[in-house]
Amino acid sequence: MSTNPNQATIDELAELAVVFAGAADSIATPAFVYEDAFIKSRCQHLKKISDQANCKLLYSIKALTLPWVLDLIEPYVHGFSTSSLFEATTAKNSLPAEGIVHLTTPGLRPDQISKISENCDYISFNTVSQWMRHKDDVAKDLEIGLRVNPEVSFLDDPRYDPCRAYSKLGISAYAIKEALGRRSPASHGISGLLFHNNCNSPDLQEVLVSVQKLERELDQVLTGLTWINLGGGYLFDKDSTNHDAFYEAVASLQTKYGLDVYIEPGSAFVRDAGFLVSKVLDLIKSEDRSIAVLDTTVNHLPESFEYEWRPDVLLDVDGGRFPYIIAGSTCLAGDVFGEYAFAEPLEIGSTIVMYGVGAYNLVKAHTFNGLPLPSIYSLGVNGEVTLMKEFTLEEQSARWGFEVIARFRN
Ligand SMILES: Cc1ncc(COP(=O)(O)O)c(C=O)c1O
Repeated sequence: MSTNPNQATIDELAELAVVFAGAADSIATPAFVYEDAFIKSRCQHLKKISDQANCKLLYSIKALTLPWVLDLIEPYVHGFSTSSLFEATTAKNSLPAEGIVHLTTPGLRPDQISKISENCDYISFNTVSQWMRHKDDVAKDLEIGLRVNPEVSFLDDPRYDPCRAYSKLGISAYAIKEALGRRSPASHGISGLLFHNNCNSPDLQEVLVSVQKLERELDQVLTGLTWINLGGGYLFDKDSTNHDAFYEAVASLQTKYGLDVYIEPGSAFVRDAGFLVSKVLDLIKSEDRSIAVLDTTVNHLPESFEYEWRPDVLLDVDGGRFPYIIAGSTCLAGDVFGEYAFAEPLEIGSTIVMYGVGAYNLVKAHTFNGLPLPSIYSLGVNGEVTLMKEFTLEEQSARWGFEVIARFRN
């Protein structure tokens, strides 16, 4: 199953293959490469949509938290959305004074609440009990919201469906009404709601359906609020024909209830700006199949492994004469990306570029078998690559508490 459609045309892909062929010698693999110009064009695209809807745009930094990427995105957004104290602190430190930080998490820690208050402007409590326990601990000037679970599912796979059965994410409309009773949200200190109930959806009709359901079920509550955050989960593709459904959803909340509307996409900013570049380390014949072992691993692309999608590879062509199973280089037998076919045979040292992998991969990557995390590069407009970060043995060992200098250098 592929949940990773891409926004590039065949011509753009061929052009990218040429750019990477030119840059291959300057990239130490494995490497994540992020195309700055593409991120900027996504920012402009998303800002245009949010300006047209007159809503406020946040970037959900959990998708990719690189410092220079945050700097690229920051001028186009009202702020960042976060899920933990560390993310909130990073967000606050990366934003100018007027930038705002939203936070929601099922795992609010009592020992972190005051630091979270210092670094956030909006907090959406995930459960009624979380709210009850912490409502008096947060700073007085914090905007307090509740995460509502709209209980409308658009995803087949419950692993990434916030509205799955027995979900831990958000409070049902019914439970919100129960908790507020006859009193207004404001009298409880609540000024907003957040919902997030989709993943990589190209279909903005789904946000309209969710908003309409909430309007039906929480009409009275919405009347007493000042803001609503519609979460992320939508790709806002450049060719999407149904942006109108999004505009309709936002306009309805603004005209009926006078709400300030926020959106907080993550993937939509960065997914298609990211590439995983690797080299073929070995070619193996296994019965009638050819296997290419790369210097990377599925652990560098954990989303593809976790959710069982086959990453797209540049120069993989339908009916290509040279088919390969492309595998990673750890001891795990299932460290396999999938089956691909090329017009030319692969050789040891051939470059393999996976694309559309900029979101949720680097942030989840790990170092099983001691393979270092991929180096990180930025790709400039003329195809030039700049090394932004590489992971050293010292750093990797320090993670486990080794005194690497003493042990390995003496
Ligand atoms: C509360 C919340 N907001 C925003 C996002 C960003 O979603 P996406 O990257 O799919 O746009 C997520 C992702 O998990 C989320 O949980």
